[in-house]
Amino acid sequence: MALVAPKEMFLRAYREGYAVGAFNVNNMEIVQGIMGAAAQEKSPVILQVSSGARAYAGQVYIMKLVEAAIIEANNAGVDIPVCVHLDHGPTFEMCRDCIDGGFTSVMIDGSHLPFEENIAVTKKVVDYAHERGVWVEAELGKLAGIEEHVQSADHVYTDPKEAVEFVSQTGCDSLAVAIGTSHGAYKFKGEAKLDFPRLEEITKLLPAGYPLVLHGSSSVPTEFVDMCNTYGGQVSGAKGIPEEMLRKAAGMSVCKINVDTDIRLALTASIRKFFTEKPSEFDPRSYLKPAREAVKNMVAHKIREVMGSSGKA
Ligand code: G3H
Ligand code: 13P
Ligand code: ZN
Repeated sequence: MALVAPKEMFLRAYREGYAVGAFNVNNMEIVQGIMGAAAQEKSPVILQVSSGARAYAGQVYIMKLVEAAIIEANNAGVDIPVCVHLDHGPTFEMCRDCIDGGFTSVMIDGSHLPFEENIAVTKKVVDYAHERGVWVEAELGKLAGIEEHVQSADHVYTDPKEAVEFVSQTGCDSLAVAIGTSHGAYKFKGEAKLDFPRLEEITKLLPAGYPLVLHGSSSVPTEFVDMCNTYGGQVSGAKGIPEEMLRKAAGMSVCKINVDTDIRLALTASIRKFFTEKPSEFDPRSYLKPAREAVKNMVAHKIREVMGSSGKA
Protein backbone atom coordinates (compact mmCIF):
# COMPACT_ATOMS: atom_id res chain seq x y z
CA MET A 1 0.00 0.00 0.00
CA ALA A 2 1.28 3.42 -0.98
CA LEU A 3 -0.02 6.95 -1.34
CA VAL A 4 -2.33 7.39 -4.33
CA ALA A 5 -4.01 10.18 -6.25
CA PRO A 6 -7.78 10.02 -5.69
CA LYS A 7 -8.80 9.16 -9.27
CA GLU A 8 -9.77 5.53 -8.68
CA MET A 9 -11.32 6.37 -5.28
CA PHE A 10 -13.63 8.91 -6.88
CA LEU A 11 -14.50 6.80 -9.93
CA ARG A 12 -15.79 4.05 -7.68
CA ALA A 13 -17.39 6.43 -5.19
CA TYR A 14 -19.34 8.12 -8.00
CA ARG A 15 -20.41 4.80 -9.51
CA GLU A 16 -21.50 3.28 -6.20
CA GLY A 17 -23.02 6.38 -4.59
CA TYR A 18 -20.78 7.10 -1.65
CA ALA A 19 -18.12 9.70 -0.79
CA VAL A 20 -14.56 9.58 0.49
CA GLY A 21 -13.94 11.47 3.73
CA ALA A 22 -11.22 14.12 3.62
CA PHE A 23 -10.04 14.73 7.16
CA ASN A 24 -7.73 17.58 8.22
CA VAL A 25 -4.53 16.62 9.99
CA ASN A 26 -2.21 18.73 12.16
CA ASN A 27 -0.33 16.30 14.38
CA MET A 28 0.48 12.67 15.11
CA GLU A 29 -2.58 11.87 17.22
CA ILE A 30 -4.96 13.11 14.53
CA VAL A 31 -3.16 11.17 11.78
CA GLN A 32 -3.24 8.02 13.93
CA GLY A 33 -6.89 8.47 14.89
CA ILE A 34 -8.02 8.89 11.27
CA MET A 35 -5.85 6.07 9.93
CA GLY A 36 -7.03 3.76 12.72
CA ALA A 37 -10.65 4.46 11.77
CA ALA A 38 -10.06 4.01 8.01
CA ALA A 39 -8.20 0.72 8.63
CA GLN A 40 -10.95 -0.56 10.93
CA GLU A 41 -13.63 0.35 8.37
CA LYS A 42 -11.58 -0.84 5.37
CA SER A 43 -12.24 2.50 3.74
CA PRO A 44 -10.33 4.73 1.34
CA VAL A 45 -9.29 7.96 3.05
CA ILE A 46 -7.91 11.41 2.28
CA LEU A 47 -5.58 13.08 4.79
CA GLN A 48 -5.63 16.79 4.07
CA VAL A 49 -3.26 19.51 5.15
CA SER A 50 -4.27 23.17 5.26
CA SER A 51 -1.66 25.88 4.81
CA GLY A 52 -2.18 26.64 8.53
CA ALA A 53 -1.44 23.01 9.42
CA ARG A 54 1.58 23.08 7.13
CA ALA A 55 2.85 26.21 8.87
CA TYR A 56 2.14 24.73 12.30
CA ALA A 57 3.76 21.32 11.90
CA GLY A 58 6.00 21.85 8.87
CA GLN A 59 5.51 20.12 5.54
CA VAL A 60 8.28 17.59 6.14
CA TYR A 61 6.89 16.60 9.55
CA ILE A 62 3.41 16.13 8.15
CA MET A 63 4.66 14.07 5.21
CA LYS A 64 6.80 11.93 7.50
CA LEU A 65 3.79 11.33 9.77
CA VAL A 66 1.76 10.23 6.75
CA GLU A 67 4.61 8.00 5.56
CA ALA A 68 4.87 6.50 9.05
CA ALA A 69 1.15 5.78 9.00
CA ILE A 70 1.53 3.96 5.67
CA ILE A 71 4.47 1.89 6.94
CA GLU A 72 2.61 0.95 10.14
CA ALA A 73 -0.49 0.01 8.17
CA ASN A 74 1.58 -2.15 5.83
CA ASN A 75 3.22 -3.84 8.81
CA ALA A 76 -0.24 -4.59 10.19
CA GLY A 77 -1.36 -6.08 6.86
CA VAL A 78 -3.79 -3.23 6.17
CA ASP A 79 -4.33 -2.35 2.52
CA ILE A 80 -6.42 0.78 1.96
CA PRO A 81 -5.97 3.63 -0.54
CA VAL A 82 -4.66 6.79 1.14
CA CYS A 83 -4.32 10.20 -0.51
CA VAL A 84 -2.45 13.19 0.92
CA HIS A 85 -3.98 16.46 -0.19
CA LEU A 86 -3.25 20.18 0.20
CA ASP A 87 -6.43 21.86 1.50
CA HIS A 88 -7.18 25.42 0.30
CA GLY A 89 -3.81 26.01 -1.37
CA PRO A 90 -3.64 29.82 -1.65
CA THR A 91 -0.99 30.14 -4.38
CA PHE A 92 0.62 28.32 -7.30
CA GLU A 93 3.89 28.30 -5.34
CA MET A 94 2.43 26.46 -2.37
CA CYS A 95 0.76 23.90 -4.63
CA ARG A 96 4.09 23.40 -6.45
CA ASP A 97 5.99 22.91 -3.16
CA CYS A 98 3.47 20.32 -1.98
CA ILE A 99 3.56 18.49 -5.32
CA ASP A 100 7.37 18.47 -5.19
CA GLY A 101 7.15 17.24 -1.58
CA GLY A 102 5.09 14.14 -2.44
CA PHE A 103 1.45 15.24 -2.08
CA THR A 104 -0.75 13.20 -4.41
CA SER A 105 -3.46 15.85 -4.67
CA VAL A 106 -3.66 19.62 -4.24
CA MET A 107 -6.42 22.16 -4.02
CA ILE A 108 -5.83 25.57 -5.56
CA ASP A 109 -8.37 27.88 -3.99
CA GLY A 110 -8.94 30.88 -6.23
CA SER A 111 -12.57 31.18 -5.15
CA HIS A 112 -12.01 34.72 -3.83
CA LEU A 113 -10.56 35.89 -7.15
CA PRO A 114 -12.43 37.27 -10.16
CA PHE A 115 -13.55 34.41 -12.45
CA GLU A 116 -10.81 34.90 -15.08
CA GLU A 117 -8.07 35.10 -12.44
CA ASN A 118 -9.36 31.97 -10.73
CA ILE A 119 -9.20 30.23 -14.13
CA ALA A 120 -5.64 31.47 -14.77
CA VAL A 121 -4.13 30.33 -11.45
CA THR A 122 -6.02 27.02 -11.52
CA LYS A 123 -4.83 26.29 -15.06
CA LYS A 124 -1.24 27.02 -14.04
CA VAL A 125 -1.49 24.52 -11.16
CA VAL A 126 -3.22 21.93 -13.39
CA ASP A 127 -0.41 22.13 -15.96
CA TYR A 128 2.27 21.64 -13.30
CA ALA A 129 0.38 18.93 -11.40
CA HIS A 130 -0.72 16.84 -14.36
CA GLU A 131 2.84 16.53 -15.69
CA ARG A 132 3.61 14.89 -12.34
CA GLY A 133 0.55 12.69 -11.97
CA VAL A 134 -1.00 14.83 -9.23
CA TRP A 135 -4.75 15.52 -8.88
CA VAL A 136 -6.10 19.09 -8.77
CA GLU A 137 -9.21 20.28 -6.92
CA ALA A 138 -10.40 23.84 -7.53
CA GLU A 139 -13.23 25.92 -6.07
CA LEU A 140 -15.92 28.07 -7.59
CA GLY A 141 -18.36 30.03 -5.46
CA LYS A 142 -17.83 31.23 -1.90
CA LEU A 143 -18.68 29.55 1.36
CA ALA A 144 -19.90 31.79 4.16
CA GLY A 145 -17.60 32.03 7.15
CA ILE A 146 -13.87 32.29 7.23
CA GLU A 147 -11.50 30.30 5.11
CA GLU A 148 -7.85 30.85 5.79
CA HIS A 149 -7.42 33.65 3.31
CA VAL A 150 -10.98 33.99 2.09
CA GLN A 151 -13.56 35.88 4.09
CA SER A 152 -17.13 35.92 2.98
CA ALA A 153 -20.02 37.23 4.99
CA ASP A 154 -22.54 35.60 2.72
CA HIS A 155 -22.55 32.59 0.51
CA VAL A 156 -22.14 33.13 -3.21
CA TYR A 157 -23.49 29.87 -4.51
CA THR A 158 -21.79 28.22 -7.48
CA ASP A 159 -23.35 29.13 -10.79
CA PRO A 160 -23.91 25.90 -12.80
CA LYS A 161 -23.06 27.40 -16.20
CA GLU A 162 -19.92 29.03 -14.83
CA ALA A 163 -18.92 25.70 -13.32
CA VAL A 164 -19.00 24.06 -16.75
CA GLU A 165 -16.94 26.85 -18.32
CA PHE A 166 -14.49 26.78 -15.40
CA VAL A 167 -13.91 23.03 -15.61
CA SER A 168 -13.52 23.00 -19.37
CA GLN A 169 -11.11 25.97 -19.39
CA THR A 170 -8.92 24.83 -16.49
CA GLY A 171 -8.98 21.03 -16.80
CA CYS A 172 -9.26 20.75 -12.98
CA ASP A 173 -10.02 17.19 -11.86
CA SER A 174 -12.64 17.96 -9.20
CA LEU A 175 -14.57 21.02 -8.16
CA ALA A 176 -15.59 22.31 -4.73
CA VAL A 177 -19.01 23.90 -4.95
CA ALA A 178 -20.90 26.30 -2.70
CA ILE A 179 -24.44 25.06 -2.01
CA GLY A 180 -24.92 26.23 1.58
CA THR A 181 -22.19 24.53 3.62
CA SER A 182 -19.69 26.70 5.51
CA HIS A 183 -16.54 26.30 7.56
CA GLY A 184 -16.45 26.15 11.34
CA ALA A 185 -18.89 25.25 14.11
CA TYR A 186 -21.59 27.87 13.43
CA LYS A 187 -23.09 26.99 10.08
CA PHE A 188 -26.75 27.89 10.45
CA LYS A 189 -28.60 30.38 12.61
CA GLY A 190 -31.96 28.82 11.81
CA GLU A 191 -32.87 25.64 10.00
CA ALA A 192 -30.13 23.76 8.12
CA LYS A 193 -30.60 23.92 4.37
CA LEU A 194 -28.55 22.90 1.34
CA ASP A 195 -29.37 23.81 -2.26
CA PHE A 196 -29.82 20.30 -3.71
CA PRO A 197 -31.53 21.50 -6.92
CA ARG A 198 -28.37 23.53 -7.63
CA LEU A 199 -26.20 20.48 -6.99
CA GLU A 200 -28.34 18.50 -9.43
CA GLU A 201 -28.10 21.20 -12.07
CA ILE A 202 -24.30 21.43 -11.75
CA THR A 203 -24.05 17.64 -12.00
CA LYS A 204 -26.29 17.53 -15.06
CA LEU A 205 -24.25 20.13 -16.95
CA LEU A 206 -20.78 18.78 -16.13
CA PRO A 207 -19.31 15.77 -17.98
CA ALA A 208 -20.76 12.44 -16.76
CA GLY A 209 -19.02 11.15 -13.66
CA TYR A 210 -17.33 14.45 -12.79
CA PRO A 211 -16.51 14.44 -9.03
CA LEU A 212 -17.69 17.32 -6.85
CA VAL A 213 -16.41 18.27 -3.40
CA LEU A 214 -18.19 19.61 -0.34
CA HIS A 215 -16.20 21.76 2.06
CA GLY A 216 -17.49 22.88 5.44
CA SER A 217 -19.21 19.57 6.05
CA SER A 218 -18.80 18.91 9.74
CA SER A 219 -21.99 17.90 11.51
CA VAL A 220 -20.96 19.48 14.85
CA PRO A 221 -22.33 16.60 16.95
CA THR A 222 -24.29 17.69 20.04
CA GLU A 223 -22.42 15.05 22.00
CA PHE A 224 -19.10 16.92 21.63
CA VAL A 225 -20.54 20.41 21.90
CA ASP A 226 -22.28 19.45 25.15
CA MET A 227 -19.14 17.77 26.46
CA CYS A 228 -17.07 20.89 25.73
CA ASN A 229 -19.63 23.09 27.47
CA THR A 230 -20.04 20.76 30.45
CA TYR A 231 -16.32 20.81 31.11
CA GLY A 232 -15.64 24.53 30.99
CA GLY A 233 -15.85 25.32 27.27
CA GLN A 234 -17.92 28.01 25.60
CA VAL A 235 -19.25 26.61 22.36
CA SER A 236 -22.84 27.74 22.47
CA GLY A 237 -25.13 27.91 19.48
CA ALA A 238 -22.94 25.64 17.36
CA LYS A 239 -24.73 23.91 14.49
CA GLY A 240 -23.49 21.72 11.63
CA ILE A 241 -24.74 19.94 8.52
CA PRO A 242 -27.19 17.15 9.39
CA GLU A 243 -25.76 13.74 8.59
CA GLU A 244 -28.66 12.75 6.34
CA MET A 245 -28.02 15.76 4.09
CA LEU A 246 -24.39 14.76 3.66
CA ARG A 247 -25.44 11.18 2.95
CA LYS A 248 -27.80 12.46 0.28
CA ALA A 249 -24.99 14.52 -1.33
CA ALA A 250 -22.69 11.49 -1.18
CA GLY A 251 -25.31 9.50 -3.09
CA MET A 252 -25.28 12.14 -5.80
CA SER A 253 -22.11 13.51 -7.45
CA VAL A 254 -20.23 14.52 -4.28
CA CYS A 255 -17.20 12.23 -4.03
CA LYS A 256 -15.21 14.08 -1.35
CA ILE A 257 -16.56 15.46 1.91
CA ASN A 258 -14.31 17.67 4.07
CA VAL A 259 -14.28 17.43 7.85
CA ASP A 260 -12.09 19.38 10.23
CA THR A 261 -14.27 21.02 12.91
CA ASP A 262 -15.66 17.68 14.15
CA ILE A 263 -12.10 16.42 14.70
CA ARG A 264 -11.27 19.53 16.72
CA LEU A 265 -14.42 19.14 18.77
CA ALA A 266 -13.90 15.43 19.49
CA LEU A 267 -10.28 15.99 20.51
CA THR A 268 -10.97 19.05 22.65
CA ALA A 269 -14.10 17.66 24.34
CA SER A 270 -12.13 14.59 25.39
CA ILE A 271 -9.23 16.65 26.76
CA ARG A 272 -11.54 19.06 28.63
CA LYS A 273 -13.32 16.15 30.29
CA PHE A 274 -10.03 14.54 31.23
CA PHE A 275 -8.60 17.71 32.79
CA THR A 276 -11.75 18.29 34.82
CA GLU A 277 -11.94 14.71 36.07
CA LYS A 278 -8.21 14.23 36.66
CA PRO A 279 -6.80 17.64 37.56
CA SER A 280 -3.60 16.22 39.01
CA GLU A 281 -2.53 14.52 35.74
CA PHE A 282 0.01 16.30 33.56
CA ASP A 283 1.54 13.63 31.38
CA PRO A 284 0.44 14.52 27.81
CA ARG A 285 0.17 10.83 26.95
CA SER A 286 -2.52 10.37 29.58
CA TYR A 287 -4.90 12.83 27.91
CA LEU A 288 -3.80 12.51 24.28
CA LYS A 289 -4.46 8.77 24.25
CA PRO A 290 -8.22 9.05 24.95
CA ALA A 291 -8.34 12.14 22.70
CA ARG A 292 -6.85 10.11 19.85
CA GLU A 293 -9.41 7.37 20.53
CA ALA A 294 -12.22 9.94 20.44
CA VAL A 295 -11.03 11.09 17.00
CA LYS A 296 -10.85 7.49 15.81
CA ASN A 297 -14.39 6.67 16.96
CA MET A 298 -15.85 9.86 15.51
CA VAL A 299 -14.15 9.29 12.13
CA ALA A 300 -15.20 5.62 12.05
CA HIS A 301 -18.80 6.67 12.69
CA LYS A 302 -18.58 9.21 9.88
CA ILE A 303 -17.09 6.73 7.43
CA ARG A 304 -19.91 4.27 8.18
CA GLU A 305 -22.92 6.53 8.54
CA VAL A 306 -22.12 9.62 6.47
CA MET A 307 -19.61 8.76 3.73
CA GLY A 308 -20.90 5.24 3.21
CA SER A 309 -17.36 4.15 2.33
CA SER A 310 -16.90 1.24 4.77
CA GLY A 311 -15.60 -1.86 2.99
CA LYS A 312 -14.79 0.12 -0.20
CA ALA A 313 -10.97 -0.09 0.11
O1 G3H B 1 -11.16 24.79 5.57
C1 G3H B 1 -10.43 25.05 6.51
C2 G3H B 1 -9.93 23.99 7.42
O2 G3H B 1 -10.82 23.76 8.47
C3 G3H B 1 -8.55 24.29 7.87
O3 G3H B 1 -8.53 25.13 8.96
O4 G3H B 1 -6.87 26.84 8.28
O5 G3H B 1 -7.45 26.55 10.68
O6 G3H B 1 -6.10 24.83 9.48
P1 G3H B 1 -7.15 25.89 9.37
P1 13P C 1 -15.56 22.05 8.63
O1 13P C 1 -15.15 23.32 9.28
O2 13P C 1 -17.05 21.97 8.46
O3 13P C 1 -15.02 20.83 9.30
O4 13P C 1 -14.95 22.05 7.13
C1 13P C 1 -13.62 21.68 6.90
C2 13P C 1 -13.16 21.97 5.52
O5 13P C 1 -13.91 22.31 4.63
C3 13P C 1 -11.73 21.84 5.25
O6 13P C 1 -11.39 22.27 3.97
ZN1 ZN D 1 -12.61 23.89 3.26
